[in-house]
Amino acid sequence: MSPRPHTMVRGLTAAAAITLLTGAGIAVAAQQASAAAGCQVTYSVNQWSTGFTGNVTVTNLGDPITGGWNLTWAFAGNQRITQGWSATVTQTGQQVNAASPTWANSLATNATANFGFNADYSGTNAAPTTFSLNGTACTGSVPTNPPTTTPTTPPTTPPTSQPPVGNKVDNPYAGARGYVNPEWKAKADAEPGGSRVSNNPTAVWLDRIAAIEGTSGSSSNGAMGLADHLDAALAQGAGYIQLVIYNLPGRDCSALASNGELGVNDLPRYKSEYIDPIAAIQANPKYAGLRIINVIEIDSLPNLITNTNVATCATMKSNGGYVQGVGYALNKLGAIGNVYNYVDAAHHGWIGWDTNFGPTADIMLQAAQASGNVRNVHGFITNTANYSALTEPFFTINSAPGGTSVRQSKWVDWNFYVDELSFAQAFRTKLVSVGFDSGIGMLIDTSRNGWGGANRPAGASTSTNVDTFVNQSRIDRRIHAGNWCNQSGAGLGERPKAAPASGIDAYVWVKPPGESDGSSSLIPNNEGKGFDRMCDPTYTGNERNGNSMSGSLPNAPISGAWFSAQFRELMANAYPAL
Ligand code: BGC
Repeated sequence: MSPRPHTMVRGLTAAAAITLLTGAGIAVAAQQASAAAGCQVTYSVNQWSTGFTGNVTVTNLGDPITGGWNLTWAFAGNQRITQGWSATVTQTGQQVNAASPTWANSLATNATANFGFNADYSGTNAAPTTFSLNGTACTGSVPTNPPTTTPTTPPTTPPTSQPPVGNKVDNPYAGARGYVNPEWKAKADAEPGGSRVSNNPTAVWLDRIAAIEGTSGSSSNGAMGLADHLDAALAQGAGYIQLVIYNLPGRDCSALASNGELGVNDLPRYKSEYIDPIAAIQANPKYAGLRIINVIEIDSLPNLITNTNVATCATMKSNGGYVQGVGYALNKLGAIGNVYNYVDAAHHGWIGWDTNFGPTADIMLQAAQASGNVRNVHGFITNTANYSALTEPFFTINSAPGGTSVRQSKWVDWNFYVDELSFAQAFRTKLVSVGFDSGIGMLIDTSRNGWGGANRPAGASTSTNVDTFVNQSRIDRRIHAGNWCNQSGAGLGERPKAAPASGIDAYVWVKPPGESDGSSSLIPNNEGKGFDRMCDPTYTGNERNGNSMSGSLPNAPISGAWFSAQFRELMANAYPAL
C-alpha cells in the first residue's frame, strides 16, 4: 500500500474566482414569505455528458443580512455536487445547502453573492425550480402583503443518529479483546524482544483472492485463510477481529509498491471472486458472536480526489471502479449483523487542506450511497500504514512563533492540521455534516507513528523563525510529510486501545509492524507488486513529497513481506517506550 501524498495544493482555501460560464441563465420565482425578506437567484450551468459546473448568483432584496446566509435548493435528478467554491456547498440526498463563507457572511440590501460548484449527473440535468435564502423563497421581489405562514426552515437536514443496519453496537472495540494473528505473532516473537509486543491485535490483510482460502507459498503474508483466522479468533475467545479488504481493480493507482492482481476493468471479478466469497464466510452463523471489523480499501477514494493526474487514478475515477467497488463491499458486508465497516480516509498530510477535505468527504458519501445505505458505514480510519504523529505535543495549528503561523512553515505547508488526532476528529464532524450518521466513529492506525527514541525533541523550540521552530519542535521526524515508505526513525505508536478520545472508536494496529511498505529495488514477484522509488533511500523525490529524499530504509523486501530491520527499529523507537 502507499498511504500517502496529496497533490500539492498550496495556499489558501477555495476562494477562487470563476469565469462566468455559458449556458442558459434562469431567474427563479416563487411565493415569498416574510415582510422584510426577498431574493433573486440566477442559476446557470456549463455541462457535458456526465458532469457540469454550476454558477449561482443570489441577490438579497430584503433587509440586510448579517451573521451568515444559507441558500438552499433541491435537485430533481441524481445531480451530485463534488466540489464548491466561494460558499460551503453541502448536499444530503437531493437537498443542497450553500452557506456563506466566513469571510463574507453579510449581504446588504441589493447586494449580490456569487459562488460555483462542480457536479456529476446522468440522464437529465434539470435546473432546480425553487431556491430559498435563509428560509425565504426567492421570488424576485419583496411582497407588499406577506402571507401569514411561517417561513420554512432551510432544509439543512441536521443529521440524526439512526439505527444501524443489523443489531450492531456503537463501538465494536469497547469492552472486547482483539484477535491476535498467530502468523504475525510468530514473526514478531522470532525477533529479539519481540514478545514485548507480539500479543497486540493486528489486522489480517485479505490482499488477493487467494488470501481468502489461504496462500501457502506466497512471498508475503501468511498461509491461513479467512475461515482459519475466524476459527482461531473463536478459539482465542476474542471479541473482535480486524480484516483489511484490499483488492480493488487498479489498486494503489498513484503508486507501484502495492499494485494488485486485478486490472482496471476487473470490477466484475472483484465482486464475484473477492467480495462475494468474503461475505459468504463472514455471514457464517458460527461467527455471529464475533465482531468482524472490515477496514475498507486503503487509499482508494482519496486517490480519486488528489491524484487523477496519474493515468490509472484517472481511469479508476472515470470507469467508476473504486466508487462502485467500495459501494459493493459496503453493501454486501454491511448487511451482516455482526460486521462493522470502516472506510479508509487517508491522513492529515494528504487531505488536510480544504481543497481536499470537503471533496474527500463527498466522495466517501458517494461510495456509501452507492451501497444503498449510508449506515453500511460504521466509521472511518485514518493514518492506515502511515507515519503521521497522533499528536504533536509541542505545537498546534494555532502556534505562531515570532508572530508567523506554523501554517506558513515548509513542513506544515498551509495544511489545516499538524497531527492525526485533530484531523480525525475534524474529519468526523465533516463526514456527519455531509450526510453520514452522527454515530460514526473513527479509528487511527498507531502501529508506526510513535516517534520515540533518541531523536525525539524534549520540548518546544524557542526559535522565532517558523521553519526552525517547527523542525526543532516536531516529533514526526520524516524528511517530508508526504513520505510513506519504510520510514527511517519511526517507532511503534500507542498500543491498541478502545475509545481513547472523543469521536475515536479505537487506536488500532492495522499495518502489522514489521511488514514492509515496498521493496527498495525491483524484486520480481507474482502478486502484481511493483517497485516504487519512494521506497528507494537514494530517491530524490517527486512533486508529491516536495521533491525531497524518500527517507526510506534500505534493503526492504516487497510490501507485506517481513522486514526484520524495520521491526527492530520500530521497537527501539517505540513511544510510549516498551
Ligand atoms: C501490502 C499487502 C500487505 C499489507 C500489510 C500492503 O502494503 O500490499 O500485501 O498485506 O501491506 O503488510
